[in-house]
Amino acid sequence: MTQFPVSFGYCDQQYTKTIYNIMSLSASKFILSNGNAIPAVAFGISAKHFKHGHGELDKQLIGTLELALKGGVTHIEGAGSYETNEEVGIALKNSMVKRNEVFITAEYLPNEEKHLKHHNPYEELKSDLKDLGSSYVDLYLLHQEVSKGGPGLMKQWSHMERLKEEGLAHSIGVSNFGVEDLNQLLNSKTKWKPVVNQIEFNHYLHDDTPGIAEFCQDQGVLVEAYAVVCHNKSLHYVLTKLADKYDKNSDQILLRWVIQKGLLPITTASKEEHMEDIVNVVNFDLEEGDVEEITRVARKKNHFK
Ligand SMILES: NC(=O)c1ccc[n+]([C@@H]2O[C@H](COP(=O)([O-])OP(=O)(O)OC[C@H]3O[C@@H](n4cnc5c(N)ncnc54)[C@H](OP(=O)(O)O)[C@@H]3O)[C@@H](O)[C@H]2O)c1
Repeated sequence: MTQFPVSFGYCDQQYTKTIYNIMSLSASKFILSNGNAIPAVAFGISAKHFKHGHGELDKQLIGTLELALKGGVTHIEGAGSYETNEEVGIALKNSMVKRNEVFITAEYLPNEEKHLKHHNPYEELKSDLKDLGSSYVDLYLLHQEVSKGGPGLMKQWSHMERLKEEGLAHSIGVSNFGVEDLNQLLNSKTKWKPVVNQIEFNHYLHDDTPGIAEFCQDQGVLVEAYAVVCHNKSLHYVLTKLADKYDKNSDQILLRWVIQKGLLPITTASKEEHMEDIVNVVNFDLEEGDVEEITRVARKKNHFK
């Protein structure tokens, strides 16, 4: 297992720590704090592929997913409220990829109520699994909108735990949680703690939300980062230079930078060449000095995607 130093910078104070066993990077996978392995980059099917309200099958999405799976994508990230489970199930079948060779993350996002058949994560995932044609998901996430903290959160988490107990979700986690809500779960007497927190994180934002990624890592909670691929002039020179050096493109450098920060990037693509690029972010290493250069240059200014 490769153990690697994860450094997190905040202003001029920077500390570097080595994470052992939990959330460590082993070849192309992270190891979660419950011991389960998770492919180090995820292919998301919201945002660009969001089809809610359409009702009918999205053939274009099925084609995109088939291309991704055949091209070597091993981690698909979706949510019941995107109404894309059937498409995932069909693409899995058509691509002939074995279920245990693909990691599927799903998310309970109840603020999209009209698109949800059920109002708790337990019932919702059971319904999603029928559409997916699978008896389990590898990871199920409770979106922050559910809870607003307090007793409501604990009630929803008990549904998540039941999914874990019954083997319907092999791991459970949260999405867009801040420190306060996460602390509530981590400090309560729950049997199963969240192993993942999915948040917006990229080279420009990493100093704008100081503390959350660092807090998660300290607690053994793997951070999944969305909105990683974004560009701004200030980093253009560095990214172009590094892209040349590693024979990759700028987006691959950004995705790899996230991985080497100890976070799991979620991205997406509709073009076949981008899918290949995504798969190929696990097979090279940025030198530590290059990781730091991106961190340092991006820190100079605030930018938003
Ligand atoms: N939990 C939440 O609240 C939340 C919120 C937002 C998103 N997400 C998840 O995150 C996923 C990713 O969404 P995002 O907005 O963060 O996507 P993103 O990674 O910021 O951007 C994806 C876009 O980048 C392009 N791209 C990908 N790889 C590339 C490469 N190697 N070279 C050039 N271009 C490349 C793709 O273009 P082409 O399409 O042209 O190939 C794609 O449209 C979503 O699908 C969703 O699952 C979660």
